[in-house]
Amino acid sequence: MSADTQVIPLAQPVLGAAEEQAVLDVLRSGQLSLGPRVPAFEHAFAEQLGATHASAVSSGTAGLHLALRAVGVSDGDEVVTSPFSFVASANTVAYERARPVFADIDPVTLNLDPQAAAAAITPRTTAILPVHIFGYPADMPAFERLGLPLVEDACEALGARHADGVAVGARGHPAVFGFYANKQMTTGEGGMVTVGDAGVKGRIDSERNQGRAPDMGWLDHDRLGFNYRLTDLAAAIGLAQLERLDEMLTDRARVAASYRQALSDIEGLGLPCEDQAGDRRGWFVFVVQIPRGHALSRDDVIRGLRERGVQSKPYLPAIHLMSFYRETYGHREGEFPVCEDVAARSVALPFFPELAPGQVDRVTEALREVLEGS
Ligand SMILES: Cc1ncc(COP(=O)(O)O)c(C=O)c1O
Repeated sequence: MSADTQVIPLAQPVLGAAEEQAVLDVLRSGQLSLGPRVPAFEHAFAEQLGATHASAVSSGTAGLHLALRAVGVSDGDEVVTSPFSFVASANTVAYERARPVFADIDPVTLNLDPQAAAAAITPRTTAILPVHIFGYPADMPAFERLGLPLVEDACEALGARHADGVAVGARGHPAVFGFYANKQMTTGEGGMVTVGDAGVKGRIDSERNQGRAPDMGWLDHDRLGFNYRLTDLAAAIGLAQLERLDEMLTDRARVAASYRQALSDIEGLGLPCEDQAGDRRGWFVFVVQIPRGHALSRDDVIRGLRERGVQSKPYLPAIHLMSFYRETYGHREGEFPVCEDVAARSVALPFFPELAPGQVDRVTEALREVLEGS
């Protein structure tokens, strides 16, 4: 198959000799879990971000679950969050038999709107869970002013910075990163919780390891816990990925700039917002919104791209309109109009650090053809 007929994938990790060697070293050491790579990865990650502490976990979902427990979310509570997110941010609230209470999003940044979130607070609200969607920093100073515990879903936002220069995830609230293979860096599966408070880190470290405190014997446990541990194999990959993180982030930003330029003359096409007022996106996905009122639906566009050898994805569907959320909480269309409008038109295009300029051109031409019906 020639380069211009090969299917262009949605995402592709950058892995090389350093990751291979790191995995081999762990295999040869015989210590595949609970070994030295996990704390080494935590320290390196915290340092990279400027965060005080970091706890490695088996996934972003596991990290969100532990972070919500750590700020005290429990049975019957409410947590205000965004309906425009990957489903895990809301699911982890439900894990604790608390209720995810959605509020609408900002039409420009696509993040939870602080004013809408404030209006959704009730006496049962115990936390707010903003999501830095598509790597764009949520307005944390505005959420901080609401005076409730915060958990940040930063799973898509490695490399992002707030206007005050602080990295997303380094403000002290528990913030959760994800390392699935499409993320800015990967460990296959995995996640990290960054936090400012040593006591909160201690609780997370214990609960990820079956409720065991560091000074306890192997089968002694003083609280309910889970197995949310990251393996040493995964941590070793993470350490190697951290070494190349800056370069991968730069490459993602370059690909995003190429897309922005190439797509700018497609009339009515919505592009990811530019960085505003000093906030800086950590590029994760390149999501376009098909023109409002276009004859083709989002799914038609995805089909048209597939026929032209370009993978794409409806990203993201509104969480409150998913079957589980409709059936469990009685949600219906019309509740969060900004989110619903954006979700119905959003398509993620192929996006990864090694996407070549020719591939950006092919995706752009395919999208142009589909939208123009040629
Ligand atoms: C916004 C958001 N939250 C949570 C998650 C869950 O992370 P993981 O897949 O590592 O469990 C993801 C990752 O896909 C995500 O994008």
